[in-house]
Amino acid sequence: MTHQLFVNTSQVVTCGGPPRARRGHESTDAGILRNGAVAVDGENIAAVGPREQIERQYPDAELIDCGGRVLSPGLVDSHTHAIFGRARYEEQELRAAGSGYMEIARRGGGIHSSVADLRKRSEDDLFDVALPRIQKLASYGSTTIEVKSGYGLSLDDELKSLRVIARLSRELPVRLVPTWLGAHEIPLEFRGSGPGRRDYVRLLIDEILPAVVKDDLAKFADVFCEPGVFTLDETRAILDASRSAGLGIKLHADELEPHGGAELAAELGAVSADHLAAISERGIAALAASGTVATLLPGTMLFLGRDRQAPARALIDGGAAVALATDFNPGTSPTVNFPLILTLGVSQLRMTVAEVFIAATVNGAAALGLADRVGQLAPGYSADLALWDAEDIREIPYWYGDRRCMGTWIKGKPLTHRVLPIT
Ligand code: NIG
Ligand code: FE
Repeated sequence: MTHQLFVNTSQVVTCGGPPRARRGHESTDAGILRNGAVAVDGENIAAVGPREQIERQYPDAELIDCGGRVLSPGLVDSHTHAIFGRARYEEQELRAAGSGYMEIARRGGGIHSSVADLRKRSEDDLFDVALPRIQKLASYGSTTIEVKSGYGLSLDDELKSLRVIARLSRELPVRLVPTWLGAHEIPLEFRGSGPGRRDYVRLLIDEILPAVVKDDLAKFADVFCEPGVFTLDETRAILDASRSAGLGIKLHADELEPHGGAELAAELGAVSADHLAAISERGIAALAASGTVATLLPGTMLFLGRDRQAPARALIDGGAAVALATDFNPGTSPTVNFPLILTLGVSQLRMTVAEVFIAATVNGAAALGLADRVGQLAPGYSADLALWDAEDIREIPYWYGDRRCMGTWIKGKPLTHRVLPIT
């Protein structure tokens, strides 16, 4: 099979380096090559280097003209809740009028209203509504997308959600990573006078987890560890059981109030601790000293109208590994636009452009256990690429809100971006 050469680039943003998360100041360099070229052999990258050298090395290759633009690794969106039914636009005005996120949830809105809706839908219906959403996420430059369950909260509805992710994975070229988030909320039927929250934790550990693992439906388990949702002890029990059953572990930690979630993530050796807008000094130190990736989701705080963002600078300067992701979900971050999150990384989190690119590629991959496969343009990596309508990498966060992604390739194959309306 002939090689493909991506030539006539203005910059190749390689994000190249060791096959692991970049910590602290390791992410000051995104590995930019001017007028570089990338050689692809089948599904993998064969070589990256100056154009003349690569063309000499592969004289018979098929040339792909990048039109003097930026070529980067496909983005890795390591945190989404893309399996939901109806949108929840009614909540934004309630928040604007002063109701808190947790207060809306206590009144049966928030996650509960998505749960009631998802439970009524068939698997086919859920697939039909999720498909264009994943395609739209991909059209903004993501080639790897983590997708969580978490709006089912019963054996059947969690399995239904995860089977939809498996089917999307089979039918779409984009790389999907499934996460089981059965511990997203205590469902309403476990809150009244009948069975209580302990029974729900038992159901998660004794029934839903084994079924998820038996059918190989998830790579990770996640828990919404937050005052009013799952306690530290419950989180530990669910994640210990998940790890023993063979899943990797993640946490929604310190999203709204400091709660020791980051410290717990570090102690348990979680692959990532996500959100962290309310992380404490001790939490920052714990993550900096651990192998856990701090996944920051600035779109969520922006959409909730909060004035606090995660302390990205303190995390990076302290030596932690920081990833960025969309948190695409119907309640707190209904955006499919990952480059917009990069803009927020620079403007709200005070990260450099190189840092936001590393956060959205290499470190996102590390947060999914895929740092040796995706997130870099380097020999041996999957040929997952994104071409941008930009001459300089700094334009991508600069033209905020614009869709600058002109195309992506996954395992060397161009992805046809069907951008259908989403509801
Ligand atoms: O990441 N924090 C918990 N889960 C989501 C929100 C889910 C929802 O409101 O539907 C989040 O913010
Ligand atoms: Fe989330």
